[in-house]
Order: sequence, then C-alpha cells, then structure tokens
Amino acid sequence: MKILLTTMVGLEETTLKHVGEHFSLRGEKLRNGRVIVQGDEQDAIRLVYAGRTFERVMILLDVVENVKTLDDIYRAVRDVDLGEHFGPDKTFACRSDRMGEHPFTSLDIERTAGQAVVDYFMETQGKRIRANLKNPDVILRADLDGETLYIALDLVGYEAMHRRGYRVYDHPAALNAALAASMLLESRWNPNRALMDPFAGGGTIPIEAALWARNVPWFRFRTFLFERAGFFDPQIVQEVREDLEAQINERQVKTIGIEKYAKHVHGAIKNAESAGVLDTVVIKQGDAEAFKDYADVIVTNPPYGNRIANPRVVHKLYINFTKRAAENSIPTILTITSRWKWMESALRGVGYRIEKSKFVLYGKLHTHMIRATLE
Ligand SMILES: C[S@@+](CC[C@H](N)C(=O)[O-])C[C@H]1O[C@@H](n2cnc3c(N)ncnc32)[C@H](O)[C@@H]1O
Repeated sequence: MKILLTTMVGLEETTLKHVGEHFSLRGEKLRNGRVIVQGDEQDAIRLVYAGRTFERVMILLDVVENVKTLDDIYRAVRDVDLGEHFGPDKTFACRSDRMGEHPFTSLDIERTAGQAVVDYFMETQGKRIRANLKNPDVILRADLDGETLYIALDLVGYEAMHRRGYRVYDHPAALNAALAASMLLESRWNPNRALMDPFAGGGTIPIEAALWARNVPWFRFRTFLFERAGFFDPQIVQEVREDLEAQINERQVKTIGIEKYAKHVHGAIKNAESAGVLDTVVIKQGDAEAFKDYADVIVTNPPYGNRIANPRVVHKLYINFTKRAAENSIPTILTITSRWKWMESALRGVGYRIEKSKFVLYGKLHTHMIRATLE
C-alpha cells in the first residue's frame, strides 16, 4: 500500500532519511511537507508507533490532479472504494488542509467529501454511515494543495504525532517534538555522543534524544485512531507492539539541558520524569552566555525575539552563546531560528563553518535549520 507521511515544509528530506535509516523503507518526496512510502500493514503501524520526524501517517487512497471545484472533490472522493477499508458500522469525519488560492474553504471541502462518503455507502451497501465530528472512528482526509487532492485515511487522529503524550509542563514556546527529532537527526547526533541544549525550556530536545536512544515507542504515552478504526488485523497490531517493546533499552545517554529560568527548569524535570527518562537526562539552571560544560554536539532552539524577548537582546544573546560554545570547543551546533542571518554571522564570527542552512516552515514562521562545525 501507499503510505503518506506529512511533516513540516522543509523537512521532507529529513523524513526520507528517517524512514530509510530506521524503517528500511524507500520513499519519495512530494511537495509541501509530503512524503510517500511503499509498505505493508506492519510498516504503517510501525511508522505510527515509532516515527519521530513526521506528524501524520495515512493510507493514501488516491491522488487526483486538476481539482478545481467542489464538484471535482465530490467525484474524486465518491470514486474511491472506501468499503475495502471500513464499513457503515463505523462513524466518520472528513478533515481537510488546504494550501493555495481556492474559491471555497476547508470546511466546504470537508462537507463535500463527507457527502460523498455518505452517498458511497448508501449506493454500494444501502446503509447510512453516521458522521461524528467530535469523536469519529475513522478520519478521511481530503487535503488540497493547489489543484492536487490527496485522499487518505488518517491513522493518527486529531492530535498529530508531535503530541507525544508525555508533556505535562507546557512551556510557552515549546518546540514541536517532531521538529526536535528532525533536528537531532540533522545534527548527526547519536546516543554515543554527549548532547547539550543550552536553551532547554521545557526540555523537549534532551527528552526526545533520550527517548530515541532507548527506542521508546509512542504507545507508551498515547493512543492512535487506527487502533479503533479497525483497518488492521488486531493480531498484527499486537505483534508490532511486542516487537517494538522488545527493542526498548535502558541505555544511559549524556544529555544535558540548561535553562535560565527556574520555572522552566522544574517544568523540564517534570516532563523528563513523565517521559521516563529523568534517570539519564540532566536539566539544570544556568546561562547559555556563561556555561562551562562540554558536549560533542549542541542541538538547540534559542529565543527568536518575536514574541517574548526583545530582538536586540536576542542578537547579543546569539553572539555570546556562540562565543561560549567556541570557547568550550563544542565541535557541532545544530540550531533553528527565524533570525538566521544573525545566528549565521555569530557562528562565523567565532570560527564555525556553516555546513547547512535550510528553510523550514515552522507553523507560520519562516525559519532556518543551521548546522555548523568548529573549524
Ligand atoms: C524557544 S525556548 C526553548 C523551548 C524548548 N526547546 C522547549 O521545547 O520547551 C528558549 C528558552 O531559552 C531560555 N533562555 C533565554 N535566555 C537564556 C540564557 N541566557 N540562558 C539559558 N536559557 C535562556 C528561555 O527562558 C526559554 O525557555
């Protein structure tokens, strides 16, 4: 089957690398945060339970081009053989993300696709399937990107995969966990290398690193929609779970988070505890402009100066932080910011070479993920 993964725009290559290295699956990059992989039921289940850099896993039912009107959407959805995957004994909802200019809204697409689903079951099985917008068993996605419509069955649910389920303290600028995992992958960090995040906030980056090192799957913390949608044989689901359980280890990693404010330090500790990695993640109060610790790699998400901090303060902060990193001989820094020019010049100024600086659309923010190595 064709499995559709969605991630942030700019992280398609990272996700391809992830599915290749960790799932032995070959994928193909599509536009705007989409990746298609070819796999079987086990692969789809495994991707949901153990995928780290992407937001959704879906069974791709059809990709339709030249979609211009709501009628086109109706026909495209009505033509899919939905009965192969679920029946009218389930409740359903349609969801749509829309990119580009259209004379209709996402809500219009959802209503139109919903009608096509109802008509499909009425015409093919003589039964009325019930919609349930709040708590459906099945979510059919009809995502429109320009004139391309992706029709797919969502395996994840309303809460995307960055909602890992372990976060008990919500930092006001918490990093998306799928982005944190993407940063770890792009940094070339591995569990044998000491990691530091000197702007740790609620601890997302060190926690994601420890969970990855220990191969902890997400069913430890949350449920997913496919478990009740009935797409897969429960025996196969159970086998995948057992296999993933068997891969969990108790490895100790050198992972440290430094944070300036006590409130966030306590929050990060609570998060690490909830994730079950407090025995290996160190969170301490400190200053990114004055730290004296060594790490093989820094992976960090500093303030951008858009919401809370003043931009001038942030510029100075980047200069002082990179200076500390160079003085402590930290070989590699992977960071993300919407002020990438400032970060790049600060890094160069203290002797780092910019190896990569790539665009990532983080929510509505235009950011760059930068990897730099000390010359
Ligand atoms: C964008 S947030 C990081 C969020 C974090 N990645 C998370 O997922 O929760 C930046 C953090 O840097 C902290 N910070 C700002 N200046 C600092 C400094 N000089 N030293 C250490 N931390 C600092 C802020 O308090 C804030 O928690």
